[in-house]
Amino acid sequence: MKNGLEDVIAAETQLSDVDGAAGRLVIRGVSLDHLVGDAYYEDAAVLLLDGLMEQPLSEEDLRRRLGQARAEIFAHVAAIDDGLLRLPPVDIMRALVARLSDAADFASALRLLAAPAVFLPAILRRKKGCEPLAPTPSLSQSADILAMLDGRRPSAEKVRALDAYLVTISDHGLNASTFASRVIASTGAGLTSSVLGAIGALKGPLHGGAPGPVLDMLDAIATQGNAKPWLADALDRGERLMGFGHRIYRVRDPRADALKSALKPLIEAGEVDRGRVELAKAVEQAALAILKERKPDRPLDVNVEFYTALLLEALGFPRDAFTGVFAIGRTVGWIAHAREQALEGRLIRPRSVYVGPMPKAA
Ligand code: ACO
Repeated sequence: MKNGLEDVIAAETQLSDVDGAAGRLVIRGVSLDHLVGDAYYEDAAVLLLDGLMEQPLSEEDLRRRLGQARAEIFAHVAAIDDGLLRLPPVDIMRALVARLSDAADFASALRLLAAPAVFLPAILRRKKGCEPLAPTPSLSQSADILAMLDGRRPSAEKVRALDAYLVTISDHGLNASTFASRVIASTGAGLTSSVLGAIGALKGPLHGGAPGPVLDMLDAIATQGNAKPWLADALDRGERLMGFGHRIYRVRDPRADALKSALKPLIEAGEVDRGRVELAKAVEQAALAILKERKPDRPLDVNVEFYTALLLEALGFPRDAFTGVFAIGRTVGWIAHAREQALEGRLIRPRSVYVGPMPKAA
């Protein structure tokens, strides 16, 4: 028995490879550093889903049909009522996704890819007391998400940055939410069930819920000079530093570098607060030094969430919506894994070791 199933192999996949020692992520044969920067979200979606649906896929066709799916999905936004609005954005998103039918064909996959992208901007607008904005099917997924947030046509730099983010996080081996998706698919349930279970797994702070707390940490530290003492106090209190450490990576998370690079054009275009970036760099350096000192036996480096926080803040997402943006990007990975598992056709059903009391002999 391995607590946390660490190092346990639970699936064979052609979708992605996480090399924790080398700090390398390969998505269907393409290394992340080659993919990110060139690829749009739609390219990553085709890369991941091709061969797993009932028809061959092309980027052009997927882009067109995904735009139509966003327009269709918008009707569900009317279900956001005052009761739902009291919940955090990712919980409202989960409730809305639960309304979708539960099949496993390409049309269902497209609806599920479109749903979080349409729901999140609508939820954020309703929370501000504004009416949701309808999607524009002719736009790319990233451009449309940003347009639905505030009604303005986003800059090319912002669209590229969101594409870089969505591609970077599209798939990542057998992480907790992807495993949840595969377990559900192995029972023969549909893709909506897989995506719902995966959203539930994603929202925890040990998985996809960390980037909001990264910004809380930066706010609390406030000045570069305060980084070292603040981090030392947090570790003294037994807290974990958000945005650092990973179950698999023993070196720097390659996604952190991909997102740091994606930030550069935004910084150059004046779309990011430079003071925030300088503070983040100082906190990163101070955290790496103190983690090395305090946990010499456990290499702890920056993970994807650290630069996600800066990027998503620059794109105008409030911090309580970050997990929802993560879900927009990861849904394609969850669907690809669910299909791969379903096509394999074997129920996932591990065993447990019973450590409770036995009935007394009569
Ligand atoms: N800050 C301080 N100490 C840490 C951190 C951290 N961020 N991460 C791990 N450690 C320490 C643990 O306290 C533990 O020390 P100990 O052996 O003295 O008790 C040791 O490193 C090993 O920790 P584990 O819990 O075994 O590591 P695990 O593989 O379970 O944790 C995790 C991975 C959950 C990501 C962890 O590093 C963490 O909590 N990080 C902060 C939250 C975060 O950034 N989450 C986002 C992850 S990325 C993603 O899922 C998309």
